[in-house]
This record gives sequence, C-alpha cells and structure tokens, in this order.
Amino acid sequence: MGRSSSSRTPTFRRLAALGLAALALIGCTGFQMSGPQSTLLTEGPVARMQTGLFYITLWVTVFIFITVGGVLAYAQLKFRAKPGDDDTPPEQSHGHPLVEMGLIVASTLLLVIIAIPTVKGIAFQEDTPDRENALVVKVTGYQWWFKFEYPELGIVTANEMVIPTDRPVHIELRTIDVIHSFWVPRLAGKKDLIPNRANHMWLQADQPGYYWAQCAEYCGESHANMKFRVVSLDPTDFAAWSQRQLADARTVAAPVAATTGLDAADMPRFQLASAKPAGTEGASYAESPFAHWQMMQAEPTAGSEDAALIARGHQLFQQKSCGACHTVRGHGSMGNIGPDLTHFGARTTLAAAVLDNTSENLHRWLIDPNGVKPGNIMWKQGYVGYNIQLTSADVDALVAYLHSLK
Ligand code: CUA
Repeated sequence: MGRSSSSRTPTFRRLAALGLAALALIGCTGFQMSGPQSTLLTEGPVARMQTGLFYITLWVTVFIFITVGGVLAYAQLKFRAKPGDDDTPPEQSHGHPLVEMGLIVASTLLLVIIAIPTVKGIAFQEDTPDRENALVVKVTGYQWWFKFEYPELGIVTANEMVIPTDRPVHIELRTIDVIHSFWVPRLAGKKDLIPNRANHMWLQADQPGYYWAQCAEYCGESHANMKFRVVSLDPTDFAAWSQRQLADARTVAAPVAATTGLDAADMPRFQLASAKPAGTEGASYAESPFAHWQMMQAEPTAGSEDAALIARGHQLFQQKSCGACHTVRGHGSMGNIGPDLTHFGARTTLAAAVLDNTSENLHRWLIDPNGVKPGNIMWKQGYVGYNIQLTSADVDALVAYLHSLK
C-alpha cells in the first residue's frame, strides 16, 4: 500500500502540469473574445438574447461535464487495481433503480432549463417588435455583395447598411442567385437568403456604432470576400443620412484650368486612410472606424479636388460602359446589375468590404478586380466580356470620379 500512494502523487502532478500547460498554451496563442466579429460582445437586443442562451447552454453542459467527469475520475482512482490485488473481479450488481430514476429526472430537468429560454428566444427573434414602426430594409444577396433597399425612404445602397438606433429594423432577406447568409455578429445571429423564398429577421443597435458583418454561408469562389458593414446612427443623424442618400450624385463644378494628375496634396481627405497598408481591415485608422465613417460623409473642402481629372473619370465611366451595370443617379448611369454607386465616395469600404475605400485600394480594385475578388461578375462579364482595357492613368481618373460621389 505504501507503494501505491507514492506512485499516485507523481501521476496527479503530471496531470496537473499538463492541464496548466494546456491553459498557458491557449493564453499564449492570443486566445481572445473581443474581435470585431465577436458574438460575445453584444450591442443589440437580439444578439444579447442569443448570447444569453449560449451561456445558459454552456453552464448547463459545464455542470454535466464536471459532474460526470468527477464521478468517473473518482471511480477510476478509487477502484483501480492495486499491487497485491488478486485477479478475481469484484462482486457484480445489475442496476440501481433509485440512481437510474434520479439520472433520468436530472437529465430531463437540465433539458427543460435549456428548452424554455430556447423556445422563448425563437419567438423573440422571429417577431419584429413594434412591427408598424419598424424600419424595413430589403436585403438582396448577389455573388458577391449585398444590396440594401429602404422601400419607405426610397433609398438603394450596397455593402454598408445604415440603421437608426431608436427603432427595430425589420430585414427582408432575398437572393438573386445562390444561398447566402446575413450575419452581423454583434447585432444578431445568422439567417439565410434562400432562392425563391422570402426570409426575415430583425435587429436593433443600442447606440451609434460601426459593425463588421459578412456572408456566413458558402456561396462560391469569393464567399470569403462577401463582407459588409452596418452603421447605426442616432435618429437625427439617420434622418440627415437619408436626406443625403436621396439626393442625386454630387457633381463637381467644371474646372477653370486644366491640371495634370492626381496629387496627394490635392486630396487631403484621403491622406488619413491612405496611410494604412493596402488590404488590411479597419481598426488601424487614426480615428475609430465609426469616426472614419462620419469623416467620409463630409464633402471635400472647396478646391481640394482635381475637377479636370474627375470630369475625365466621369467620361471614362460612360465610355467604358460602367453605367451598363452600375447606377450613378443624376449622371446618366442606370445599370442595376452591380452595386449602386450614387454615393460611393461616402462609403468606408469597397468590393463588398474586402478593402477600405482608399484611393490606393480603389486603384488596385479597378486595375485588377479578379485579383481582389476572384470570379466576380465585373471582371468576368464586364472586363473580359466587353474587353474593357484600362490604363493606370484611366484608373486614376476613375478613382477621382468615384471618390467625388459623396
Ligand atoms: Cu454569399 Cu457566402
């Protein structure tokens, strides 16, 4: 028996050391829950309910794990073979009615604890509260971007959905092609956009903010590049945004004197964003993403733009038949295959939120769309289909034009 206790202690120590090492490894690998798409940092009632449900399920299962694991570990250690034991098995018994009934009752109780909030939660997320006053947004999924329509306001936009904070947003989900999934992790769980079927969901944001979001259902080559953003604004700011969206595209006054090209000094409003390395997402702006969005809404200061270059870009946009697929309201382009670009210059992202909307990134996107978002229709049907050739100078002009569309 003396040998038994001395051999048990090192085993325990080894197990404990192994456990601590595993925890340390998890800690060291940057395990964290606070990313921009964390479902645990909730910022609206729907996400809050869903995360609450997740924690109830988590704690119930942790309880089961510890109880069952504890009993198992206790039995293994207490009844294991010891040196000097003979080989005859211990006395066998069959069943224990009280223990078995107890286990059935306990399991049922645990299931009920999970089931009641689950059923209540399903009802909560399916029924938009205050339906008559809710803001309706029609979301349509395309390979690979999202269109947002506001029927009561007459607004159409793409890839950045702006919502007010004071009322629920009732979202109608449709798709033009394959199944997509609408997911704004901090505001609400996923819901699919299914061909030939209308789906709906609702969400609301507690306060003004900027949220990362993305398609959460595999939908082809660039599924991983089908992202979007949600911006929530207080009612006054939302009303102001709606007014700006209703206006036709901004027109820059014709130049008084011709200028040569795009000079960084001519465009101070892009300097902040351009300081970022190409292709990285948000967060590294000098200001917060939300403040950056607000900055993008402002019209450029007088004289900060190259009007000749913008005029050249506008001309190219029409010559290269960009308007066959894109709408720029008030500028003679009425296409509806690709995203509406009427207020493109006021968006923080481009190409379905794959890139931040900087001059450098927009240049990269226009010169090689297939390199940014493989398989996209602008490339396949536009650039290849219509044999659209753009020089770097053409792209500079298009960048200036598109960024002038506030
Ligand atoms: Cu759309 Cu994945």
